[in-house]
Amino acid sequence: MSNSLLILPGDGIGPEVMTEVKRVIDWLGANKGVHFDVSEDLVGGAAYDAHGTPLHDDTMAKAQEVDAVLLGAVGGPKYDNLDFSVKPERGLLRLRKEMDLFANLRPAQCFDALAEASSLKHDVVAGLDIMIVRELTSGVYFGEPRGIHTEGNERVGINTQRYTTSEIQRVARSAFELAKKRGGKVCSMEKANVMESGILWREETQKIGDDEYPEVELTHMYADNGAMQLVRQPKQFDVIVTDNLFGDILSDIAAMLTGSLGMLPSASLGLPMANGRPKAMYEPVHGSAPDITGQGIANPIACILSFAMALRYSFDMGETADLVENAVNAALADGLRTPDLMTVEGGTKVGTTQMTDAILAKMSEA
Ligand code: IPM
Ligand code: MG
Repeated sequence: MSNSLLILPGDGIGPEVMTEVKRVIDWLGANKGVHFDVSEDLVGGAAYDAHGTPLHDDTMAKAQEVDAVLLGAVGGPKYDNLDFSVKPERGLLRLRKEMDLFANLRPAQCFDALAEASSLKHDVVAGLDIMIVRELTSGVYFGEPRGIHTEGNERVGINTQRYTTSEIQRVARSAFELAKKRGGKVCSMEKANVMESGILWREETQKIGDDEYPEVELTHMYADNGAMQLVRQPKQFDVIVTDNLFGDILSDIAAMLTGSLGMLPSASLGLPMANGRPKAMYEPVHGSAPDITGQGIANPIACILSFAMALRYSFDMGETADLVENAVNAALADGLRTPDLMTVEGGTKVGTTQMTDAILAKMSEA
């Protein structure tokens, strides 16, 4: 079976970190005989500059064809005043929606060498390994009605939180399946105390747990309490499952537990395609970081680890994924730090390219 990959570097530091991923891909080709059919295209502001739309229809069609999409980042101050319908973020949301990537996996793992880089105490985060499963194709991000209109002399902004049973059930199943292979625990987060959609979320998740996954321990938490518990005692969690908006917020919190947003990968998975592989897109959790763009100092690790997730979840190459992840760990253990990780004394400050040099060297030694 061939392995096709569509790379969408996007904006800001997206192209910089993607350049490093391409080096990892080339290394695997040269040293492990693992080959990918790589194509590349535009998304976000870069696509808007070229085509007047943040995602060209041809790019969307290509994304539907490949085994996996790898996306860098979208957005930047240059595009802040664009009409909402053509903002860079719309390109990303279209990919998620049209590929029906309902399960967004955001692992937050604290690498030993970085336990000091977290803003939390060492003991609170050392050894942390949690997985946030965020629903990605529904909820307030896509619900109708939405928009801004005028009522008398007031303007009114509207968005709608809407979930159906099947939308909740399928993402709940993804979370339970992951929990079975991990610590055996799922914590579901919503606001059932104030939102009907939260009540439905809680009931449907419980039903799936009772009927299909009695061996997994299921608990429920209000999302605000969940946010607090994530910084108080994050190691109490194994898998967290939550809706689109709460998942967006809670995963940023979880990211900081690991030391830097520059460390966190993600996988967005949909239904299996004809070849049995799931529809999939992989992207770092961090954004386009306009403040550091073009300086060669962006941390490439989140994007490299996103590619490692592609190896694991799309291409069934768990051992190759381990090789990449262990190399990242080893480079960090040697004290190499991009500036975002230099929050504690010690360590050797390196740029984007040097960090990848070190990771590739560790892969060669392994
Ligand atoms: C994320 C981002 C996106 C989101 C933005 C860029 C649209 O914050 O992937 O977490 O809100 O989903
Ligand atoms: Mg976000």
